[in-house]
Amino acid sequence: MPPSSIQANQSSTRSQPRQIAIYGKGGIGKSTTTSNLSAALSDLGYKVMQFGCDPKADSTNTLRDGSYIPTVLDLLREKKKVDAHEAIFQGYNGIYCVEAGGPAPGVGCAGRGIITAVQLLKQQNIFEELELDYVIYDVLGDVVCGGFAVPIREGIAQHVFTVTSADFMAIYAANNLFKGIQRYSNAGGALLGGVIANSMSHPYQREIVDDFVAHTHTQVMQYVPRSITVTQSELSGKTTIEASPQSEQAEIYRELARRVDAHTESATPEPLEPGELKDWASKWADTLVAIESGEVRDEKAGI
Ligand SMILES: Nc1ncnc2c1ncn2[C@@H]1O[C@H](COP(=O)(O)OP(=O)(O)OP(=O)(O)O)[C@@H](O)[C@H]1O
Ligand SMILES: [Mg+2]
Repeated sequence: MPPSSIQANQSSTRSQPRQIAIYGKGGIGKSTTTSNLSAALSDLGYKVMQFGCDPKADSTNTLRDGSYIPTVLDLLREKKKVDAHEAIFQGYNGIYCVEAGGPAPGVGCAGRGIITAVQLLKQQNIFEELELDYVIYDVLGDVVCGGFAVPIREGIAQHVFTVTSADFMAIYAANNLFKGIQRYSNAGGALLGGVIANSMSHPYQREIVDDFVAHTHTQVMQYVPRSITVTQSELSGKTTIEASPQSEQAEIYRELARRVDAHTESATPEPLEPGELKDWASKWADTLVAIESGEVRDEKAGI
């Protein structure tokens, strides 16, 4: 049975929603974190839309029992005129789920797809009609392609949060994102709210992320442990907030949501230059060798 999209209604307008973009390296946990954040914000009583900006169109499925929805670009390919309501599907706690979709693999620019999808909703005044409090964009990529800077550059999002682990490639991607934010910050682009440290399972990982944010003048919004509860929830097609609301992991996502909700002032981060990043990484390589050999104690308590 095809998923049922929402019906148009005539509700009144109110002020614009807060628009947040979540970035991070491929596979780092953006969709998992975003979906749990959306679920936790909706549990706080907010009206939330999660907007998947990944051509894979798999951002919102754990909000909808593991089921996938047609994308805006799919619908636009099928017919010239699309009623935006056909692309909006409700999930957990009434969260509005949208997937921008993308061009056929190997063809075109996914960034243009994001602009097209956002424009469709804006032209039809969907954000006002649904009286949304939050729109959360789950954005693919390391900003290696200009298209993925779209939510930052086009003034779509106001606050950016980046998901990173302590792995160097994830930090490298976060640093590239910071460069993108810095580039567009004077032209009214989105600013950085902070870093979500995901998959924390060893104390030194937390120290690495802490050190990176100190060097780039930003902050950690939450430390999210690597947890089997997340795996179990995903396997049952749900967020941890829905599948395991009493778990410690769910409380960590709820605390993240409270912090994001309380967050007001984003800023321009100060990315490390390539040489600085290399030196920073080498210092950590030496520290980890020293920790492993017992020369240096790993100071922080368990996470
Ligand atoms: N804190 C965590 N604990 C355990 N597993 C996690 C955690 N965070 C993410 N994962 C798992 O890591 C995998 C990748 O996560 P996810 O799909 O959210 O990443 P992504 O950044 O959205 O990936 P992509 O770039 O492909 O869109 C998933 O199987 C997810 O369940
Ligand atoms: Mg994803």
